Amino acid sequence: MSCSHAHNQPNNPHDAGPPLWLLAELTYRCPLQCPYCSNPLDFAQTERELTTEEWVSVLRQGRKMGAAQLGFSGGEPLVRQDLVELIAEARNLGYYTNLITSGLGLTEAKVDAFAEAGLDHIQVSFQASDPELNNAVAGSRKAFDQKLAMARAVKEAGYPMVLNFVIHRHNIHQMNDIMSLCERLGADYVELATCQYYGWAFENREGLMPSKARLVQAELEVNQYRQRLQESGSAMKLIFVTPDYYEERPKACMNGWGNLFLTVAPDGTALPCHSARLLPIDFPNVRDMDLQGIWYDSPGFNHYRGDSWMPEPCRSCDEKEKDFGGCRCQAYLLTGNADNADPVCNKSSYHDRILAARKAADHATAGLTGLVYRNADNSRLFFRG
Ligand code: FES
Repeated sequence: MSCSHAHNQPNNPHDAGPPLWLLAELTYRCPLQCPYCSNPLDFAQTERELTTEEWVSVLRQGRKMGAAQLGFSGGEPLVRQDLVELIAEARNLGYYTNLITSGLGLTEAKVDAFAEAGLDHIQVSFQASDPELNNAVAGSRKAFDQKLAMARAVKEAGYPMVLNFVIHRHNIHQMNDIMSLCERLGADYVELATCQYYGWAFENREGLMPSKARLVQAELEVNQYRQRLQESGSAMKLIFVTPDYYEERPKACMNGWGNLFLTVAPDGTALPCHSARLLPIDFPNVRDMDLQGIWYDSPGFNHYRGDSWMPEPCRSCDEKEKDFGGCRCQAYLLTGNADNADPVCNKSSYHDRILAARKAADHATAGLTGLVYRNADNSRLFFRG
């Protein structure tokens, strides 16, 4: 994740600003099984979820520290029975709130209840432009129709219709169909996010990564569609997010470690990003420590602040204040050591691993059946219902 107002990371943690963005991963439970989910592979083994009171306390502490944006995500946050209560509390505290949902488990009555409780924004994710592919990727037979109905319900309740599609080799040929579906639905914002490889997506990378040629074609199609929208006076906005694996310089992941973002996982583990629990670092838990102490004083959050931890080539790189050496989780997944420069960077001695992944993507032919679906059994494709 990146955002436009990057600022330098201080070496002294107490010079850091507050966590402006708080992500509340309310649960790892989810009715869908998308093989690109960024949740940890062992999500089913995590401790019990935070209670309503514990979440309320996290929200209060975050707001007191200066957090302004709050995302409710998961898993599927709708499986939490206390969602309306948490939204109402967040609104009272003055957060700008965003619900990130698959739409499964949503009803018109719930959309109304969320609006009444003060929810600011809802984003509904889709897997493809047609029911067959959508449901096969989601691992659920009823997902597509439900998503269509809920996208409409969100708009009818007065929210902008914000749709998200994760793009990979099995749906990248559908770009025009996806954009046309969104237009027919009356979407306001469409995020076409090419898959990033963390969690389950890393596990399935070979089966998900599109070829460079397909990616270039997809970007062209988005640009042409955007042009057509502009000419026809449509207000629908298309946001195309390109994948790290086809870049030569890394992103300033999370805008810098412990800089703006604070994620609280379902079991209360506090993390500088949604993937960090895979790192061999001891992260604090909101059950043991207050958010202030976690943010400013915990070894986990201070681990990659500033630049004194950086080895070469980052240490002497004149771009280190721009990208902070890239993504720690990607460095760990690809090199086994999170201190290394993100191998996306062509100055990294591990950049050949990115090149090898690109080459493999050029030659990949496997279908959906080779993917490991996100569920407690790491099972291959099956439908739950
Ligand atoms: Fe980039 Fe964790 S996802 S630092």
